Amino acid sequence: MPISIKKPADILKKLGQVVYIAGTQWGDEGKGKLVDILSEKYDIIARSCGGANAGHTIICTRNGKEEKFVFHLMPSGILHEGKICVIGNGTVIHVPTLIEEIRSLKEQGIDARERLLISDRAHLIFDYHKKIDEIQEERKGAGKVGTTKRGIGPAYTDKVERRGIRVGDMRNFDSFAQRLRENAEYHMKTYGFNFDIEHEINFYKDAVDFLEPLIANTAEYLDSAIRSGKTVLMEGAQGTHLDIDFGTYPFVTSSTTISGGAVTGLGIAPNRISNVVGIVKAYTTRVGAGPFPTELNNAEGEMLRDKGKEYGATTGRPRRCGWFDATVVKDAIVLNGITSINLTKLDILTGFETVKIGVRYKLDGEEIRSIPASLDDFERVEVLYEEMPGWEESIVSARKFSELPKNAQKYVEKLEEILETPINFIGTGAHRDEIILR
Ligand code: GDP
Ligand code: IMO
Ligand code: MG
Repeated sequence: MPISIKKPADILKKLGQVVYIAGTQWGDEGKGKLVDILSEKYDIIARSCGGANAGHTIICTRNGKEEKFVFHLMPSGILHEGKICVIGNGTVIHVPTLIEEIRSLKEQGIDARERLLISDRAHLIFDYHKKIDEIQEERKGAGKVGTTKRGIGPAYTDKVERRGIRVGDMRNFDSFAQRLRENAEYHMKTYGFNFDIEHEINFYKDAVDFLEPLIANTAEYLDSAIRSGKTVLMEGAQGTHLDIDFGTYPFVTSSTTISGGAVTGLGIAPNRISNVVGIVKAYTTRVGAGPFPTELNNAEGEMLRDKGKEYGATTGRPRRCGWFDATVVKDAIVLNGITSINLTKLDILTGFETVKIGVRYKLDGEEIRSIPASLDDFERVEVLYEEMPGWEESIVSARKFSELPKNAQKYVEKLEEILETPINFIGTGAHRDEIILR
């Protein structure tokens, strides 16, 4: 039986106690908005992967004023009073960025320190990781990944290389400082740059006092919370096709972005996860390099970028835009175990005479069901499109499916048929209220 979520009261009942919110494309699908909306119903909101490469946007009205928040490390549930936010062991944390987010929230009247827990096992990103990120990208030249230059890859490399420094290590400051010195020296020698180690160490001297009360064994915390009946929303970052294993390697990020990453990135066992909601943009975007078969390098692509304000929430870079790619999303449904979809930004398609869906791929004349592992093959796929009539009417104020123009309804139903998964949430605008439950 497909899930149906007709009213807010159905959300918990239908999605269950522990839910993962997965990006299904190349990131920026609108995860932050749904996490914020669902946070009203959930007790704990937890980030499991990535770091400040993420940029999750929330637009809401507080005290009668419209406000915009962009979170890089802070879980998107923080705006809701009384909700506990967790930054899990699978993330990589740049402490200055986190402190800046806490400070900026405080200015807006939100005391995040009262409701935030940081895993003692999460790895730290130091400023030398950002420097290495820059150097690696420069050296790759035309083959660069187009990273966010937030030091993500180098920090995860240190983790896997077993030289990483973790949040909990800060508590033992002398050995922390010693390891920081050794690592910085190692990297300076390897990459040939200068770095003020003592300046970095001094910063952490102050930071550790500020953060100490927030550092915890978050896996243990989550386990007892779940046992006592608390509900958990796991906020994915990036998207399925940026996943280190299943993404368009090497044009990917350095972490596991699919739902399996929530298991290792938070220490929540797989059999605890009740549902996975896939966030699916009504068209496709990608920021950074790598293959993108339905990309539009023409006026339609520009129209999507202009109307959708498709500029990176972290780097401000223009996002590449294209038509909906069903193979991309179908792969994500399988890899994440998606049972319910939030189709976002349907309003941006208003005003297109026709809208296209990339329904299938052909490679060397044969239909293929999923994205090939080889990028050379992926670059060669032929996309088979279905074209549908568009609609002119604004849909921003629609709150029921029946209030959508007939052609918009048909577009949603077509996607649902292709994806074989219920579309329970439809985004009709950027604001928290602009959503249809179905
Ligand atoms: P995330 O990284 O997945 O959280 O997504 P981003 O915040 O990077 O990018 C999504 C952008 O789309 C943000 O600017 C959101 O405010 C906006 N957005 C989300 N859902 C909708 C929607 O349904 N309609 C419109 N117009 N904007 C939306
Ligand atoms: P959210 O959570 C979109 C992309 C970068 C680059 C590649 C590797 O907001 O959806 P990295 O800095 O991670 O080493 O960059 O991944 N990327 C994202 N693209 N949204 C994101 O996060 C991204 N996080 C990383 O642009 O192509
Ligand atoms: Mg984003």
